[in-house]
Amino acid sequence: MTSSLLPQPLLSLCLRSSSSLRPPLLLLHHRRTIKTKSSAAWLVRQQTDHLVASRGAFRARSAFKLLELSKHYKILKPSCKLIIDLGAAPGSWSQVALQGKGGGKVVVAVDLLPMAPIPGVHIIQGDFLDQITQAKIKQKLLLAGDGLRLKADLVMSDMGSNMSGLASMDQEASWKLTKMVFEFCKVGLRVGHFHGQDGIWRSGGTMIMKHFACPEIAEFRRTHLQRCFEEVYYDKPEACRKESAEGYFVCKGYKGDILQKAIEPPAPKEKWAEEEGDL
Ligand SMILES: C[S@@+](CC[C@H](N)C(=O)[O-])C[C@H]1O[C@@H](n2cnc3c(N)ncnc32)[C@H](O)[C@@H]1O
Repeated sequence: MTSSLLPQPLLSLCLRSSSSLRPPLLLLHHRRTIKTKSSAAWLVRQQTDHLVASRGAFRARSAFKLLELSKHYKILKPSCKLIIDLGAAPGSWSQVALQGKGGGKVVVAVDLLPMAPIPGVHIIQGDFLDQITQAKIKQKLLLAGDGLRLKADLVMSDMGSNMSGLASMDQEASWKLTKMVFEFCKVGLRVGHFHGQDGIWRSGGTMIMKHFACPEIAEFRRTHLQRCFEEVYYDKPEACRKESAEGYFVCKGYKGDILQKAIEPPAPKEKWAEEEGDL
């Protein structure tokens, strides 16, 4: 392929990369498959994202989404120690989670794809929808607690299934992941409780969950999320692509599987522990 056959933005990326940056591997790999304007645009975007991420400390630009959410909703506090990262590869959310203030953080990262090791991150390669993978996550929580099963302070899911292009199929796949992450919180996320001798209220853990717009979601938010969490927000960080239908639920203060039980009155506000040193 001669350079004149490349679209202009792609061409300038190639020229730039020949001097100070590594050759754009993704570009070389796909050079024979650039057939349409949209696939060329996709390649330019992927390549730019790759360059943005590789210039910084993170493995992917998704890192900036979590940084934004964490800053806005004060998620990665010093008290947030045990974190489950679902759909973790290549690992930028795990990297951000480990950097949160307070140190001593442990991340259990799960993905269908292999992921290069990160110190402090326990990697599980498998399908989150598979019971075997979920059993492996529970096993890690058992090990982290020296035989006493711990519950996570934060369950975060950036999982997204491969888009088929068929809206109904894609929505169904995303909806299935959404429900499974919520179900997993019942066994994996710390529930709010009165703590220690002074009986200080310790709020329950946080769930961050990516989801793609689907018809059931408004009802699910009302009947499930808002009943089981003290605070529920929906956000689309600046770092998300404008054209993407993705957004994130940030749900704080897990109250447990209260859909099975009577709803308890909330703890008196003055007893809530104030956390210092938020991100
Ligand atoms: C947007 S990427 C995650 C990027 C990651 N948060 C980061 O910052 O590096 C979505 C990931 O979800 C994973 N994924 C999708 N469905 C999954 C499933 N059922 N089980 C485990 N991982 C899944 C994909 O393999 C993909 O790596």
